[in-house]
Formats: sequence, structure tokens, C-alpha cells
Amino acid sequence: MYSFVLVLHVASISLVVGTLFVQSLAVIFRLRLKDAVQVEGAQWVQYRIYKFIYYPILIVAVITGLILAVQTGAFQAGKWLHWKLVLLLILVGFGFMNGRQINNKSLPKPLALFVHIGIFLTAMGMIYLVKVRPF
Ligand code: HEM
Repeated sequence: MYSFVLVLHVASISLVVGTLFVQSLAVIFRLRLKDAVQVEGAQWVQYRIYKFIYYPILIVAVITGLILAVQTGAFQAGKWLHWKLVLLLILVGFGFMNGRQINNKSLPKPLALFVHIGIFLTAMGMIYLVKVRPF
């Protein structure tokens, strides 16, 4: 049971981080499109990925993480998980901003870059905490 949940956790978190990384990058690329029909097409595709892939797979990542935390006693075993959950809230915040940026036609590029780089650094921080467990 533990191994199955761990595998599902790693698969789901990879899709969460991967989806947010590519979706935020696609917003930056979309800013270069000049044709309104092309922009709407990109927004249509992106918003369906945001609603029907990102949120369901985030729920799987959180549920499997909670099961792992209970099974391994991780909440008592150190502060790394607490800080990982703080970073998770920041990652979900960036995810929320990404959703709004997908629908925003007149988005300043620096704001799109801020979300894109923020997603990468926050995910790196979470993986560092769980793999190194510094505290
Ligand atoms: C998108 C968010 C998340 C990311 C990127 C993430 C990332 C990871 C990674 C990379 C591992 C290591 C797997 C391994 O190689 O053994 C892991 C394990 C773990 N995660 Fe997450 N995780 C996320 C969400 C959560 C949540 C919400 C919780 C708890 C509420 C959680 C609790 C755990 C626990 C307890 C383990 C360790 C299991 C063990 O000791 O083998 N994770 N996570």
C-alpha cells in the first residue's frame, strides 16, 4: 500500500509541477500572438488543461501526500513537511495567478515571467525539502 501511494504521489506531483511550468510558459509565448483568433484558441486550450488536468491532479497529489504523511508519521518527524506545505500554498497561489493570466488578454510580460519563475523555484524548494529533509 505504501509503495503504491508513493508511486501515485510522485506521478501526480510531477504532473502538477509539469503542468504549471508549461502552462505558465505557454502564457508567455501567447503574448507574442497578434491574431485575436489565435489568442482565443490558445486561451481555450489552456483553460481546459487548467480546469480538467491541473486541479484534479493537484487533489490526487494532496490526498496521496496526506496518506504518506500519516503512514510515515512525517508530521511528527521534523519541520520539513510543515515548510513543504507552506511552499505548497505558495505553489497553489501561483497556480491561481496562472489561471487568471490564461484569461487575461492584456497581460504585462514581467508578471507572466514572475509566475513562471516562481512556479519553478517553489517546486524546487518542495523537492529539496522532501529529499534532503534539512530540518
Ligand atoms: C505539488 C505538491 C507536492 C510536491 C511537488 C511533492 C513532492 C514530493 C517528492 C518529490 C517526494 C519524494 C518521493 C521520493 O522520492 O521518495 C514526496 C514525498 C512525500 N510527500 Fe510530497 N509533494 C507534494 C505534496 C505533498 C503534500 C500535500 C503532502 C502532505 C500533506 C506531502 C507529503 C509527502 C510525504 C510524507 C512524503 C514522504 C514519503 C516517504 O517518507 O517516503 N507531499 N513529495
